Amino acid sequence: MHTLTLPLALLLFAVIIPPPLSLSSAVSSVDPYRYRYLKPLHRQSSPQEFIELAHPLPSSDPVTPSCTLTIINHSFGNTINKPPFTAPYSPPSDCPRPWSHVILGFHAKVKGEQYDRIAGLWLGGVELLRTSTAEPSESGIFWKVRKDITRYSSLLVQSNLNVTMMLENIVNNVFTGVYHVNVNLLFFKDKDVTGTVPSILSSDNFNSTLGFESDKYYHPPADLILPISNNDGEREGFWFRVESESDLNFKKIKFPRNAYRVILELYVSFHGNDEFWYLNPPNSYIEKNNLTTSRGNGFYREVLVTIDGKLVASEIPFPVIFTGGINPLFWEPVVAIGAFNLPSYDLDLTPFLGVVLDGKEHKIGIEVKDAISYWLVNANLHIWLDSGSSEVKAGSGEYHYPNLTLHTNEAFRFLDGRLDVKARRRTGYEGWVKSSLGILTTRVMRQFRFRGFLRFDKNGTHKLVQQRIKVKRQVEVRNERGILVTHVIINRRYPVEVKTVSSPGSEKDRYVLETDVNHFFREQCLIGKTRSTVYNSQISGGWMEVKDHSVLSGEANTEQSYSYRDEFGCYSRSVVASNGELISDKPTPCISAF
Ligand SMILES: *[C@@H]1O[C@H](CO)[C@@H](O)[C@H](O)[C@H]1NC(C)=O
Ligand SMILES: *[C@@H]1O[C@H](CO)[C@@H](O)[C@H](O)[C@H]1NC(C)=O
Ligand SMILES: *[C@@H]1O[C@H](CO)[C@@H](O)[C@H](O)[C@H]1NC(C)=O
Ligand SMILES: *[C@@H]1O[C@H](CO)[C@@H](O)[C@H](O)[C@H]1NC(C)=O
Ligand SMILES: *[C@@H]1O[C@H](CO)[C@@H](O)[C@H](O)[C@H]1NC(C)=O
Ligand SMILES: *[C@@H]1O[C@H](CO)[C@@H](O)[C@H](O)[C@H]1NC(C)=O
Repeated sequence: MHTLTLPLALLLFAVIIPPPLSLSSAVSSVDPYRYRYLKPLHRQSSPQEFIELAHPLPSSDPVTPSCTLTIINHSFGNTINKPPFTAPYSPPSDCPRPWSHVILGFHAKVKGEQYDRIAGLWLGGVELLRTSTAEPSESGIFWKVRKDITRYSSLLVQSNLNVTMMLENIVNNVFTGVYHVNVNLLFFKDKDVTGTVPSILSSDNFNSTLGFESDKYYHPPADLILPISNNDGEREGFWFRVESESDLNFKKIKFPRNAYRVILELYVSFHGNDEFWYLNPPNSYIEKNNLTTSRGNGFYREVLVTIDGKLVASEIPFPVIFTGGINPLFWEPVVAIGAFNLPSYDLDLTPFLGVVLDGKEHKIGIEVKDAISYWLVNANLHIWLDSGSSEVKAGSGEYHYPNLTLHTNEAFRFLDGRLDVKARRRTGYEGWVKSSLGILTTRVMRQFRFRGFLRFDKNGTHKLVQQRIKVKRQVEVRNERGILVTHVIINRRYPVEVKTVSSPGSEKDRYVLETDVNHFFREQCLIGKTRSTVYNSQISGGWMEVKDHSVLSGEANTEQSYSYRDEFGCYSRSVVASNGELISDKPTPCISAF
């Protein structure tokens, strides 16, 4: 156990006497707007498993895949400023396509002292997984991530591609943790999956037809996948590194003339001074108080996608908290939502085929509004081709992409005060494609609403940040008689609330942070006649004593509920982690309604 009891007297003391924690230069090594820490090294009798709660996918047991292919078995030591790991890829010779499903199994283990690290995994420059690592312990930790990668089938079938994985790690006298990573691909044929499921929990709640995620938009998988990624990926990793709002990263793409559907899949993560963008104060606050922090620009960010400089899609990312984030004791052994399998975002660009199907190159760009250093972004273009013709015709119709309506209101007096931000945008665009499927018109609509505030009290030592993000995305495809052929509605909500109170520590150069984090991710999908719902919520609370960036002691609790439902059944599970141990893990009743 790594917990020390905070003397009660100290807590009382902290309430009565103004905390001496200096927000100016007195404690120069402390940036109160930095929220990334190294957790204490504690020892357990054996390596501990870390988990991210998710919808279960088949592993090799009891569902046996037709074949398994190891694509990476590598140790990431001091990899900083070095090229990514690269290995040749060819599909398994013993089970040719068609596959009903392909699952990526990622396994990692590490021991020693180490920060959380970000990693990307690409095949032929196309990203398959964005993941972050857990901070290890002396006796070692390990974890598994499973992801349905069936959507990349047209790529997985190709030979002579490279698998690339970037995991920038630092190993020296202080940071000793080396990440050992093993990645397998599991190829399934239809017969392998019917009627069988993995048994992550032996529970009646676990319905027998479940087992694979409904693969949302990607059914059937696209015929061609083109990366919108760094040309120098073999040297730097395929992601674009965004240092500021003015960084315009793009790739020139020549679309095949017979493309009839296009979805851009966006991968994004945030680091450095923008790792906690959702907690950043405005620049005016930093300037007026003569603070030295670089974590500013307020707390609104939006990732923008452009075609030839014209805005075509945007997304406010889900604020994934990595395992060293806010209070690292919260995230052991249950990591924050999305930490092991960061969400990607599907943006339907089919209505713009009328613009890009001219046989010429077009610039597909990605930017981050108000970004500060640094963001890692790239995208995959999933393109469906008309097998019945070598050239389809397309035209673009309505394009409604108004400027963002952003209202900010700030009122600060010295270190205390409040910033409010409200933003909304409704967009809609339409285009038609004439292929051997007939003339189909796709209309894409999206509306989002963002509301957030940040409040500092008690001379800046009490901070409260709240954001609510609500997104509704709709796609309607109609035939030439105006009859609805496909309909997609996706509603997402992901609010986050972070509350911190800082007070002096037991010695001069230490401080205590009491923190509550409360966030959830809810998604309701209707795709054709298929409905599914995901509800994933985490509530964490605790305190820690910190010196520089190291957590010396503390106590922490995280409660999580996860439930997934579709027409085949449901999966529902609740866990409680307390002071580094999983103290409860049980199935919970499924919510019956959508
Ligand atoms: C508020 O914090 C600043 C910077 O740490 C400090 O100089 C000032 O004395 C504090 N004011 C009060 C009223 O505690
Ligand atoms: C991975 O490599 C390590 C050391 O190089 C080896 O001991 C281990 O057996 C390999 N694992 C797999 C699954 O290939
Ligand atoms: C694969 O990687 C090797 C070594 O980095 C490189 O020489 C080769 O050109 C790459 N192949 C492809 C198809 O990118
Ligand atoms: C910031 O620095 C300026 C110039 O040194 C000084 O006039 C001002 O009072 C300082 N503001 C605060 C809040 O300390
Ligand atoms: C939208 O923003 C751009 C750039 O800031 C500006 O040039 C343009 O006039 C704005 N359009 C509207 C309709 O406000
Ligand atoms: C599992 O599926 C069966 C048949 O579809 C259904 O009758 C049953 O209620 C489901 N169980 C749960 C827990 O959802």
